[in-house]
Amino acid sequence: MKSLQELAAIREKMKDKVSLREGVNDIRVVVGMATCGISAGARPVLNTLVEEVAKEGLSGAVTVTQTGCIGICQFEPVVEVFQGGKEKITYVKMTPVKAKRVVAEHLKGGKPVEEYTIGNVKA
Ligand code: FES
Repeated sequence: MKSLQELAAIREKMKDKVSLREGVNDIRVVVGMATCGISAGARPVLNTLVEEVAKEGLSGAVTVTQTGCIGICQFEPVVEVFQGGKEKITYVKMTPVKAKRVVAEHLKGGKPVEEYTIGNVKA
């Protein structure tokens, strides 16, 4: 039988583990790579996101993946950012330069780049 103190210590340790796991890949960045996305330049945008995330040391917290059709061809390249507990952010008409800024200001700095989001860009 373990003492109460020992049990409390175990619980504390587990808590750390759980929150660590929650912290891992907290943010998911998804790039639309349907034909329309690719022809609009999604590939260099995806590459820039992957590179910048690694360069900024965010690989533990951010996963960059690709998907197919997002359904808004006229806005491609489209990048969606999913973060637990927050509303999805949709970036449209992305370029490598814009992607770099999104990594620095949003993924690292925590502040979405409003001017690149779907509500603020004309089709
Ligand atoms: S084919 Fe372009 S977003 Fe679906």
